Amino acid sequence: MSMQIGVGFLGAGTVGSVLVRRLIYESDAIAAKTGLDLVVRGIAVRDRAKDRGIVIPPGLLTDRPSEVVDDPTVQIVIEVMGGLDPAGDLVLRALESGKAVVTANKELMASRGRELLAAAETAGVSLLFEAAVGGGIPIIRPLSESLAGERITSVLGIVNGTTNYILTRMVEEGVAYEDVLAEAQELGYAEADPTADVGGGDAASKAAILASLAFGTWVGGSRVTREGIEGLGTEDFESARRLGYTPKLLAIAEDSSEGIAVRVHPTLVPLDHPLASVRGATNAVFVSGPSIGELLFTGPGAGGEPTATAVLGDVITSARERLAGTQVKSRIRFASGRLRDPSGVSIKWLLRMTVMDRPGVLAQIAAVFGRHEVSIKSVWQDGRGDEATLLLVTHESPEGDLHLAADELAGLEVVSAVDSIMRVYDDEP
Ligand SMILES: NC(=O)c1ccc[n+]([C@@H]2O[C@H](COP(=O)([O-])OP(=O)(O)OC[C@H]3O[C@@H](n4cnc5c(N)ncnc54)[C@H](OP(=O)(O)O)[C@@H]3O)[C@@H](O)[C@H]2O)c1
Repeated sequence: MSMQIGVGFLGAGTVGSVLVRRLIYESDAIAAKTGLDLVVRGIAVRDRAKDRGIVIPPGLLTDRPSEVVDDPTVQIVIEVMGGLDPAGDLVLRALESGKAVVTANKELMASRGRELLAAAETAGVSLLFEAAVGGGIPIIRPLSESLAGERITSVLGIVNGTTNYILTRMVEEGVAYEDVLAEAQELGYAEADPTADVGGGDAASKAAILASLAFGTWVGGSRVTREGIEGLGTEDFESARRLGYTPKLLAIAEDSSEGIAVRVHPTLVPLDHPLASVRGATNAVFVSGPSIGELLFTGPGAGGEPTATAVLGDVITSARERLAGTQVKSRIRFASGRLRDPSGVSIKWLLRMTVMDRPGVLAQIAAVFGRHEVSIKSVWQDGRGDEATLLLVTHESPEGDLHLAADELAGLEVVSAVDSIMRVYDDEP
């Protein structure tokens, strides 16, 4: 008979209830595959009377999380409660009392990950968080273990399924932002308060975690510059499509001689780029380095079932370590690295402008770009009598220069409006 490992839950919502079901009702399959006897000792929730779609044996539910954290028969705490408070202090307390912790909480790891990993190291226990980024996609372990010997230069991708779902529907079906968002909320793809998703905060937390692991330098969530998708309209998509691009909310982390820059923003990608075909709630992350070239991790970025699989993998790892008496003392170390201001990073830009449809206008516009050292890659114009829509793609240029140029353009007598400015990511020179 194998030794029992006690597991306690902080939260049993979308992710937690799936895990509870698997650990209680599918424990034979887990034991057959791993030889582990994982026993659920307690489950902390807010509302004990809530229907969770599963029968929870009596005595397991509590509305006092400290009962789980302080239970001496619990060796592994699974934190699937979300948020910073009280999750952060509960995780810290669990670690300090010698329990291993598995968490899916990206917000917590991006804001207090360094402190919590240090606490885990001091206590000689593990803190694992595979599910915090990419839902069911294994990405944390590859970055922190399999690729620990690579000098990773960039991590780039789509890490928020909700915004990708919204953008996909807007682009493919022409549905307005507000309508898709309302529908996504009804279907449960988007939270009642969607701010963290559509404002880029969720993707920024994930980008911070990925960058920290990839580059071995701690990047707190607050160091990631972010722009959400709220300001995008169907006219932007039409301009993008006309020039062969589609919009995606990209997380981009780069390590260069000038330092590390991490940012999240709507970005146009060429229609033939692999990221363009990442649709709906799917996530996809490219990891690049001089020896590995480019690796692509893709799959379901959220959802109770895939996320529970990622959490369960960490629980199994923790249980195996505990049984073997080999609690890994901090898998991850962070050196001091230089973070740079992402606004200095160069990228291509697409500007949509309404201009006077008369001779000499393009020359005036080109002169403004020239003064700010922004070079033009391509121009497309559609005249409509007195006015014309001008779409203009630049070569790579820092944000600061581009915005100075755009401000000056907006003041030209021949420019009625600079309607939108979007970043463009492509590999072309
Ligand atoms: N959902 C996903 O697809 C997904 C994917 C990847 C990562 N994650 C991460 O996984 C975590 C959990 O997400 P989720 O979607 O499962 O969240 P959720 O459905 O909102 O569930 C949260 C659970 O925590 C409980 N809870 C919250 N505050 C509590 C408190 N103060 N005391 C006791 N219990 C409390 C809730 O109790 P009640 O049920 O009684 O309200 C609920 O059971 C989050 O960090 C999230 O970012 C989620």
